[in-house]
Amino acid sequence: MTEYTYFLNRTDHYHIHDLKTLGWELTVCNALWNPSSPCRKILKTDAAFGVHLDGFLRTLFPVDAVRRVLEVGGGTGVLMRDLLNIHPLWSATMLDISPYLLGRQKESLAGSNAEFLCADFLAAETDDLQKFDCALLNENLGDFPTLVSLPKDAAPEDLEAAPASALNQAEYFRASYGLQFLPGEPINIGALMTVDKLCRAGVPLIYLSEHSCEARAPEAFAAYLKIFPTGIPERISLKGHAEYTIKFSHLQNIAQIRGYQVIRGPLADFLVLDLTPKALLALRMAVPATDEQEILQHFIYDLYKYEYLVLIRR
Ligand SMILES: C[S@@+](CC[C@H](N)C(=O)[O-])C[C@H]1O[C@@H](n2cnc3c(N)ncnc32)[C@H](O)[C@@H]1O
Repeated sequence: MTEYTYFLNRTDHYHIHDLKTLGWELTVCNALWNPSSPCRKILKTDAAFGVHLDGFLRTLFPVDAVRRVLEVGGGTGVLMRDLLNIHPLWSATMLDISPYLLGRQKESLAGSNAEFLCADFLAAETDDLQKFDCALLNENLGDFPTLVSLPKDAAPEDLEAAPASALNQAEYFRASYGLQFLPGEPINIGALMTVDKLCRAGVPLIYLSEHSCEARAPEAFAAYLKIFPTGIPERISLKGHAEYTIKFSHLQNIAQIRGYQVIRGPLADFLVLDLTPKALLALRMAVPATDEQEILQHFIYDLYKYEYLVLIRR
């Protein structure tokens, strides 16, 4: 039997000290921010991400009754800006580990009913989360710590082994929620802790989205989009850090056991694609011929590679 040594993949140092732009990571939210974005033109409705998300959430939950909203890892703050425009009675708490991005959020939300906390969400206390009616975590769970293993004899000597607390957390999820981890499989320990924490706090409405290792290209696009549900979190190397795709079924299990109704799917459920000739061509090109085609290809890929969870307290 192969023996494994566990390490913790972390991104906190990068986010606190090195991150000076989100430009390296074109999130779906940012791809739709600019009204002249070509990505908007290949959706059935030409609108910002927040408008799409609000329209979707209101089919599932009485969002007009929400008052206190927590957004974790709000990036440049454009999602919350759109939401506060639609919901003037909401008050927002923006919690982010990155001082740089929190500064961007303050600019985007200047004059709005919002407060700002520079903190690691994983250090948040369950008691402090109970006051929120809604929590939003858009495209950030992959940044949270992941337990990664290497066969013992292949592990470099200078790599710091994962702290016992992280291994104990994995054990807690095995024992409390029956989660199974294959030997050697990366474990999204930060994402698991996040859902556990929010559900324990009883936040009535929770929205999460991230790259998924369980996503699948729709049949009609299977020849063009290489998206397969491996079920094993995949490493994505980015500028200054690496993150992991998320095993959503584990998050779903936790929420269901905690008594939440779970709605799950690809972002394409509410960012509905309009297969214009431009979109079709971009989808079919093996190698994009223009920058715009590359942007559209990347965007369409993300619509299916990203999954969301809407968790509603019963
Ligand atoms: C990829 S960006 C997504 C930004 C934005 N939500 C969007 O969709 O454009 C990840 C965000 O999560 C934040 N973040 C990463 N780790 C965090 C942590 N442990 N606690 C709080 N925020 C974190 C980053 O600083 C950044 O704002």
